[in-house]
Amino acid sequence: MVKSLAPDSGNKYEIGIAEIDAQHRELFAILARLEEHSGERYTYDAARNALSKLTEYANVHFAIEESLMRMHGYPDLLAHIDEHQRLRKQLADFQQRLLDADIATQLHKFIESWLANHIDITDRKYVPHLLASKIDPTAK
Ligand SMILES: [Fe+2]
Ligand SMILES: [Fe+2]
Repeated sequence: MVKSLAPDSGNKYEIGIAEIDAQHRELFAILARLEEHSGERYTYDAARNALSKLTEYANVHFAIEESLMRMHGYPDLLAHIDEHQRLRKQLADFQQRLLDADIATQLHKFIESWLANHIDITDRKYVPHLLASKIDPTAK
């Protein structure tokens, strides 16, 4: 059994851009739903549902982030997109393996650590560039 996510898990990864932070919090909230259906409480339908919501929302978030970086000429855009692409591929791979009951736990651990690392390291890198481009960090 994986450890429970705190309800404010998304908060400690705030990067200071309100719209993006709200999306990151939502990703962690969807992830927490997947955790609820892992281990002994595993059911295929619930895991499939949580994974498809996570995939859908991650795609929306990545598209918004990528267009924001593109619009403001972020120099590391391509490397950042590569990281997003790797997660898109991993999520698709997990979808193929959902019949295995252990997968929800593995998926949860993998995504939690991927999100934490990506937000904390890669997402944080674009913040100075976007702020210097005069985006409004409080806009929602
Ligand atoms: Fe992000
Ligand atoms: Fe990102």
